[in-house]
Amino acid sequence: MYWNFSEILRGREDGRFSRADGPLSLEIGFGNGEYIERTARAERGSLAVGIEVSQWCLAKAARRVIAAGLDNVRLMLGDARHLLKWAFEPSCVDAVYMNYPCPWPKRRHAERRVTTNLFARLVRSRLVAGGSFNLLTDVGWYAAEARETFARAGFSVSAAERGSEPDCMTKYGRKWREMGREVYSAVAVKTGEAAGDFELEDDMGEHSAEFEPAAGERASRADKPIREALASLVGDKIEGRDYIALFREIFFAGDGTALIGIISVDEGFEQHYRIRVITEERRAVGRRATGSIDTIGCPYRTPGVRASLKHISAKTGVIF
Ligand SMILES: C[S@@+](CC[C@H](N)C(=O)[O-])C[C@H]1O[C@@H](n2cnc3c(N)ncnc32)[C@H](O)[C@@H]1O
Repeated sequence: MYWNFSEILRGREDGRFSRADGPLSLEIGFGNGEYIERTARAERGSLAVGIEVSQWCLAKAARRVIAAGLDNVRLMLGDARHLLKWAFEPSCVDAVYMNYPCPWPKRRHAERRVTTNLFARLVRSRLVAGGSFNLLTDVGWYAAEARETFARAGFSVSAAERGSEPDCMTKYGRKWREMGREVYSAVAVKTGEAAGDFELEDDMGEHSAEFEPAAGERASRADKPIREALASLVGDKIEGRDYIALFREIFFAGDGTALIGIISVDEGFEQHYRIRVITEERRAVGRRATGSIDTIGCPYRTPGVRASLKHISAKTGVIF
């Protein structure tokens, strides 16, 4: 059988989910995909989106969804703590589900839990008013911690059952039940908008001094050949409050196109991408070089990415 994943897998180039996508649920850590399949079957008019860090799980779930003939599922590969922020517009998700996530019991791993304040605020910002966060776990203290954290973040919280078998069964749910473990839940409902909701920052934070071109450089860059100015970007490192961007390499094509390779990291979210610059040598008319983000890599427009564009403009005069 030929598996056509293109309709199901959602990449960076597809842009961000928004309310325009219609009703939308999100499952974080979908494992083998059986719960997302069930959600998609039950709500054919809604989009069921899943995020998973494991490539193997992604492939398994994608095959499951294709075999089931479902066209209302989208799966993403990556860390939900980052993708929730960058791949979703605020207030566009109706429900978030997490089934049996690892509780990360060691203290030094606590920030990986879903029970951090930051994560609860992020979930809140992406949910519609009345939307819910739904957790199932076999670890009692973890459910209690999640309830506390989500209540602090302004949710109305309960331990209501999310449904009983077989609706809520998943591979791990079955495994824990066979081992005789209890199942605990936390259901947190977003009640209205609250001040201080997490939004994408438009500012780029503080730039380090080395980021901005020196006055002399600014004055002379108009005279500098564009090739030379672009080549001088390699090795540059720019830093803001929550990001860092490194200018790793540059390639010049014979036709006057340049590709600048950059790595940015925003709060641990790493992206590799290229900026394409069309220089004057190639342009038939006009005096300035123009730049755009190359389709290879297609980064989210995080503060780090935006700052790297700004740095290129400031240092070389390229227009975006
Ligand atoms: C214990 S398994 C549960 C799988 C499935 N939900 C089930 O109930 O059978 C936890 C899953 O979460 C995924 N995961 C862990 N951290 C994640 C993250 N930050 N973002 C997305 N998925 C994550 C893991 O790869 C794993 O598949």
